Amino acid sequence: MEQRLTLPLVAFALVVASPAAPAEGGPLYSYDPPLTPELRARLQAANAEAGAQVFERKCSTCHDGAKDGKPSKGPNLWNVFDRKAATFTDFKYSDAMRASGHTWTYATLDYYLSDTERAVPGKTMDLAGLRSAKMRADLLVYLRTLNDTPPALP
Ligand code: HEC
Repeated sequence: MEQRLTLPLVAFALVVASPAAPAEGGPLYSYDPPLTPELRARLQAANAEAGAQVFERKCSTCHDGAKDGKPSKGPNLWNVFDRKAATFTDFKYSDAMRASGHTWTYATLDYYLSDTERAVPGKTMDLAGLRSAKMRADLLVYLRTLNDTPPALP
């Protein structure tokens, strides 16, 4: 009787304890987030004016977005699209950001801003992220305007 019970119990325990399939993602030095149809749709529906307000509330204490603006607590964000991470001159980036190796695009910015520590573990930017996917899309269509040649909307 005891043996007959043990086997199913062990099998059950194994199933319960086995780890879930690894979630997609990880640090940007080893993960290149795709420009998904979901993100495209979100950007198409986004609102740059709402994004300007997000920037004002969530970013402007540390980032200047003006052309020829000065670095502040964070680097200037003019021309951040298509910038290789950690290459704005006059700013001392963390080793983590310098080693991240990616370029800022719609996909990498959306991914970074959703969870900054997951994307760049050890970064010194003191903002965990923006949980709202809509808020991130609004912000991105605003950020694209801070550019000598704003990138096309995907
Ligand atoms: C509390 C200050 C602070 C806030 C708030 C903040 N940042 Fe940052 N940000 C930083 C710092 C510091 C760095 C440099 C990080 C590093 O070197 O690890 C940085 C880096 C970045 C970078 C990388 C730029 C590059 O040249 O590679 C981007 C993009 C960025 N921030 C966007 C934003 C956006 C968008 C917001 C608002 C949602 C924001 N940050 C809010 C301080 C901040």
